[in-house]
Amino acid sequence: MSTRAWSRTSWPGWPTWRQISVGFPYQVVAITGASTGLGAEMARQLGQAGCKVALIARSADKLDQLAQHVRAAGGTALALPCNVDDWQQVQAAVAKAESDLGPLQCMLANAGIGQQLEPGPWDPAVVEQILRTNVMGMVHALYAALPAMQQRGRGHLVGVASMASYQGLPLDGGYSASKAAQRIFLEGLRVQLHATGISVTCICPGFVRTPMTDKNDFNMPFLIEVEDAARRMLRAIANRRRVYNFPKRMAALAWAGQRTPRWLFDAATSWLGKHQSKRTQARSVPGPGRE
Ligand SMILES: NC(=O)c1ccc[n+]([C@@H]2O[C@H](COP(=O)([O-])OP(=O)(O)OC[C@H]3O[C@@H](n4cnc5c(N)ncnc54)[C@H](OP(=O)(O)O)[C@@H]3O)[C@@H](O)[C@H]2O)c1
Repeated sequence: MSTRAWSRTSWPGWPTWRQISVGFPYQVVAITGASTGLGAEMARQLGQAGCKVALIARSADKLDQLAQHVRAAGGTALALPCNVDDWQQVQAAVAKAESDLGPLQCMLANAGIGQQLEPGPWDPAVVEQILRTNVMGMVHALYAALPAMQQRGRGHLVGVASMASYQGLPLDGGYSASKAAQRIFLEGLRVQLHATGISVTCICPGFVRTPMTDKNDFNMPFLIEVEDAARRMLRAIANRRRVYNFPKRMAALAWAGQRTPRWLFDAATSWLGKHQSKRTQARSVPGPGRE
């Protein structure tokens, strides 16, 4: 088969040679949470591979800057400011992506927030917001892309959960619960869509250096750089992994944590939580150099 026969113009749904050479099989991809961190880095790397990328997040200015960067790198980018908490907004963004860029082959639901739950005042609104953005934001993105994929009989849905989904940790109960819900939801969806031509991938990263973790003032074991993490995540998607836990050493730690006797787990993690809480309280006490 000649190179021309594989070109984008003759086979709109097929990957370009450039994508084949970098190992990413999709041409049209939507990413939520694309304005910073992992989402922005995956968009940059997809741009370098010549993909068409729909960039979804709330910060319009950051999306515009990133879109320029992706175009300069050789890709096509469409900035779609949108709050994933809002089902109507997400549906409109996905419809716009399909009409401007073509049929979506991959929806990467990556948007997320993390907030520690300080002891008292016990405000359920904090937990509610984490669950709404992380769980419902992902469901909105996947469900908005799904009907058209089902009609075409092919597509790939990806959700970014976390290694935190494997256990509840002090101060992070809301975040861990949201990530566990995402992981279990994705498992159910994957089985439901089995043999329909639509793949489902759940990605569980460990600690990655992004704006989300920049605010942490505790030791983050096996922290990896965002470029490395994004590369690994795109490779896992290309390989249609069902679940991808990384880095391996962090996955081993989570595995061991799940198998540790509960009395030991409770004692160790509650000590960790108190230690962390003291640090956070010390940081929030007004003092020289603090607001
Ligand atoms: N970094 C880590 O160590 C780590 C580890 C495990 C899992 N993860 C997961 O990886 C994903 C990306 O995290 P990150 O580390 O790259 O964090 P980040 O830099 O803080 O990025 C989060 C992204 O989500 C977007 N977002 C948040 N709320 C949104 C909303 N309501 N509507 C639309 N977009 C929203 C943010 O954009 P706007 O503010 O512009 O809307 C931003 O683009 C998250 O799901 C996170 O839970 C991260």
